[in-house]
Amino acid sequence: MSISSACSTIALSKFIQALPKAELHVHIEGTLEPELLFALAQRNKITLPYSSVQALRKAYAFDDLQSFLDLYYAGAAVLLTENDFYDMTMAYLHRAHADGVIHAEIMFDPQTHTERGVAIATVFAGIARALREMRKATGMSSYLLLSFLRHLSEAAAFATLESALPLRDTYQDLWIGIGLDSAEDGNPPEKFTRVFARCKELGFRLVAHAGEEGPASYVTSALDQLRVERIDHGVRSEEDPALMQRLIQQQIPLTVCPLSNVKLKVVTDLSQHNLAHFLRAGVLVTINSDDPAYFGGYIADNYLACAQALNLSNDELVTLARNSIQASFLPSDRKYTLLHSVQA
Ligand code: ADE
Ligand code: ZN
Repeated sequence: MSISSACSTIALSKFIQALPKAELHVHIEGTLEPELLFALAQRNKITLPYSSVQALRKAYAFDDLQSFLDLYYAGAAVLLTENDFYDMTMAYLHRAHADGVIHAEIMFDPQTHTERGVAIATVFAGIARALREMRKATGMSSYLLLSFLRHLSEAAAFATLESALPLRDTYQDLWIGIGLDSAEDGNPPEKFTRVFARCKELGFRLVAHAGEEGPASYVTSALDQLRVERIDHGVRSEEDPALMQRLIQQQIPLTVCPLSNVKLKVVTDLSQHNLAHFLRAGVLVTINSDDPAYFGGYIADNYLACAQALNLSNDELVTLARNSIQASFLPSDRKYTLLHSVQA
């Protein structure tokens, strides 16, 4: 790299970090860095099948979504106590804050933990303590999206919802929504129609992963059957022109995760990513990190990599930051204030 291109990369990074932005698609379990994973394994006397942090990091080479999920669920096994969830969440919040995140909507997968015997109250308590402390210290706001694992049954999702509902009052400032994640292939949105209907009745905001590895029809059924307000990923929507028109007309947000899409081979190369097409066609797209500890970058890294690979202008980067606030579940007065701060 020449000196002048290094200088322009530094200037671009600073511009991106200074942009106030919301992160709307991040799995807290996907922020567990190998160093912390090793430290927690030691604290909890768990033996890992890797000799070192470097050996674990080396294993982060994925062929597809499932090969990633296998490692991701195995990694989450080091999380046992409230303090473990607190430490993981705090580490993410510090990195997000440094990247200019002023609001985060964070997914967590209780079933990954309750299946191992960890109480759902422990999961909530550790994550929420970190979110509240960070809000107090920096003003960064956050919400929680409890996500159901779609490779499990709808009955299991209902049971998880029932076990979480007694905690709703305690976490009413944070737990505002429901998501759907894990293996998309063979687990269409309509498998969860009844539990999502129940969540809607209860007043939760709804999102679902769709059109990551799965077809565009999964995006349509997430919208029509699950009645979600926002689609996580949705990059395969482009295969259906009528769906694209709908996304544009109804301004349905997509939370796109470019580095994730490269690592999971959803796209062959970032230069082939359709994010810029979506943006220029008028879709309400946003940039997010998904599982930053596994995919080689936090939110600002995602913005920077896209700016460089897709030749995004500074105005387009501002639009992406504005979109992230627009697509959030924040009340309209806070959205208005934050949109002004982006423009400034
Ligand atoms: N869980 C964590 N990351 C995910 C992804 N990218 N897709 C589906 N489920 C996930
Ligand atoms: Zn995701």
